Amino acid sequence: MEKISYPGTQRRYRASEHIRELTSGVRLSHKAFIQPIFVDASVNQHRYVDGLKDVRVDSFESVIQTIHADVEAGVTKFLLFPVPSKKSAKDFDYSFAVSVVKNIKSHFGDRIWLASDLCLCSYTSHGHCGILNKQETKLLNNPTVFELTRYASLLAEAGVDCIAPSDMMDGRIGAIRVTLDTMGYDEVSIMSYAAKFSSQLYGPFRDACHSAPKSGGLQNRKSYQMDAGNLNDAIASALRDEKEGADILMVKPAALYTDVIKAVKQQTLKPVAAYHVSGEYASVELLAEKGLADRAALHLEVWTALVRSGADIIISYAARNAKQWIEEKKY
Ligand code: PBG
Ligand code: ZN
Repeated sequence: MEKISYPGTQRRYRASEHIRELTSGVRLSHKAFIQPIFVDASVNQHRYVDGLKDVRVDSFESVIQTIHADVEAGVTKFLLFPVPSKKSAKDFDYSFAVSVVKNIKSHFGDRIWLASDLCLCSYTSHGHCGILNKQETKLLNNPTVFELTRYASLLAEAGVDCIAPSDMMDGRIGAIRVTLDTMGYDEVSIMSYAAKFSSQLYGPFRDACHSAPKSGGLQNRKSYQMDAGNLNDAIASALRDEKEGADILMVKPAALYTDVIKAVKQQTLKPVAAYHVSGEYASVELLAEKGLADRAALHLEVWTALVRSGADIIISYAARNAKQWIEEKKY
């Protein structure tokens, strides 16, 4: 048979694992991953949440075991979600979060990097991310920011390495930076939830954190989280947060918003983090559970897409598997 040569042949790049490795534009490393952890004051041992397979909601004590096991698996960076048992409309009590941070830091010290989420939705009786007006129809920006600065300073004093505000109020990054610097916590970083969209993909998380909005007046988070169609808002907010002193800019959710990751990355010199959120994680897990996808390979495919889009840092509920899966080259 006559040999035909096609000038545009691309398949030589795909022919073996070696050439695929040499020519891939993405090199995943477990060092770029952050593992979320939940600690709930009303939990006795630990509990599991629908959709968040392999992710425990820990008690004050059991979180230490969780982190131990994660450190063994190669995780060194964590994002803590403290969940208090008492809910109110104001006068929030941060002592549980403070003691959890102190306890974790006294066990692990600088062997781990501990970020804490900063928001009020696990504290409020109505489940919104801040303080509402009397009629419960509006989320008040400045009183919420003021409250967050108080919370941030207590977390910094307790020993966190990073504060991650997820409330979406205007001006909070600047206010928190000034507060931390004034108090001498200038080495505590801020990872801003800079482009956080109002999304259906937070369902399992809200179960874990008792943070679903339940006020009659204000039914959802659309008046403070971003509209899915508004790329300009995402970019403007990210650049605004950078100006106010954010050290890391986060985009969330991640896999449906890779265009946002790319756009933010192109306009900033700050590292960009992508948060593959609870609903995104759950959809991967459900496909795998039904035998419709390989669990490790699908997570790796998502992570590859996030890095290809410009993410420097990945926050994933499966971060604790990253080292093993990447080493096994499951993709
Ligand atoms: C709370 C917060 C949410 C998430 C992180 N911080 C939920 C929300 O805004 O309702 C979502 C994380 C996830 O779904 O994994 N401010
Ligand atoms: Zn919140």
